[in-house]
Amino acid sequence: MSRLRVRRAPLIQAEIRVPGDKSISHRAVILASLSNGTCVLRGFLPGADCLSTVNAMRAMGIRIEQPESTTLIIHGNHRRLTAPADVIDCGNSGTTMRLLAGVVAGQDFRSILTGDDSLTARPMGRIIKPLMQMGATIVSQGVKEGAPLVVGGRSPLQPITYSLPMASAQVKGCVLLAGLFAEGATSVIEPGQSRDHTERLLEYFLVPVERVVTEESGQRQIRLTVQGGAMPESRDFQIPGDMSGAAFWLAAAAAQPGSHLLIKDVGLNDTRTGILAVLLRMGARVREIIENIDQMERVGAVEIVGDHLRGTVVEGAEIPNVIDEIPILAVLGALAEGETIIRDAAELRVKETDRLAAVATNLRAMGVPVDERPDGLIITGGQPLKGAKLKSFGDHRIAMAFTIAGLFAKGETTIEDTDCILTSYPGFEETLLEVLKSSTSGAEATKVISSLKN
Ligand code: S3P
Repeated sequence: MSRLRVRRAPLIQAEIRVPGDKSISHRAVILASLSNGTCVLRGFLPGADCLSTVNAMRAMGIRIEQPESTTLIIHGNHRRLTAPADVIDCGNSGTTMRLLAGVVAGQDFRSILTGDDSLTARPMGRIIKPLMQMGATIVSQGVKEGAPLVVGGRSPLQPITYSLPMASAQVKGCVLLAGLFAEGATSVIEPGQSRDHTERLLEYFLVPVERVVTEESGQRQIRLTVQGGAMPESRDFQIPGDMSGAAFWLAAAAAQPGSHLLIKDVGLNDTRTGILAVLLRMGARVREIIENIDQMERVGAVEIVGDHLRGTVVEGAEIPNVIDEIPILAVLGALAEGETIIRDAAELRVKETDRLAAVATNLRAMGVPVDERPDGLIITGGQPLKGAKLKSFGDHRIAMAFTIAGLFAKGETTIEDTDCILTSYPGFEETLLEVLKSSTSGAEATKVISSLKN
């Protein structure tokens, strides 16, 4: 099990890139696999989560080559999949399980989806319900409708119109993918805007998605419709850098007055850039430089100059846009003057770990007053952070958020069990060193961070 030890960091003056977007990597692999030919995906995120999706598609007969860690050559098989010989292990990846459930529900074979202890504890009723309505049979062999899920597919599925009970890109993606295997039009109605990569990638692969936005008594709804039987047209794709990975470095720079950071080739899809708006509100200077809109996904650079931060409120419709950034935003709240309030974020309790509880525990260990609420946190910032021994709770985003917190703490901070970082950010430690080295000597940079394996 690995541990990371960090100390207070110098000012940051750096220019970096981040690995490929996780959400887009999953979806690109699935759609390329279902497509009508061979395509090359570049900028793929070779984290454990996305590799779970690759292995699952391979287990269902798709040939996928990986000439370099970030390049995949996917031989799409015209929507044809074969029955997996074994249980499909989705590892730690909720996105893999929920998106794949939509795909396997529409096949005329039986499959079993499982995962690690964290994933089998996560709620799957939210996908079981619509997929059963479409005619698939799904039996949960776990606790509280959790995985392992035994999916008895049906081909074709029945089309449905499904109102999502929560803004969730995974559930939306699940139903839209199942809709490709239904007879007729399948619609999903979202109560709020969640990340829209499924619909954008479908369109990139030339599968039309109808999008209708309505507003009733101040409530905005998005209705998305796909037609069953559509064949994704295989096309090469360059996956942009992951804003959720960039968030850690943006935070590290934001909270140090005078720090300057440029992150290049990052995805600037506006369902993912909520963190930039929050950083601006907190007092950092942030600039987006859009460079490419060719492939349905905006890509460009983000530049940030750090400053004295002030607390803010993150709530309501903004939450789905920053859902994965809340741990690092909470750390920033601790570094900002005044109160930072996060509410309407109960979904965080059912992520890789209960992230509200994990953040509250770790911030308190660093001496930060935190009031934990059922749907959020109230953080009183502005006091110096104390170095501490912290747990990752096996959650990659908690491990990374508190590595950054350690860069601002007095004394040493140890984060236990940091192997989980590999689920979404291979190369995190190397980029941390790169960020530190750009503004200090190599020897000093390695004094700030040390990595221990035992
Ligand atoms: C994701 C959607 C979000 C996010 C997760 C990735 C996706 O989950 O937290 O890390 O790729 O669809 P929900 O859809 O459950 O909110």
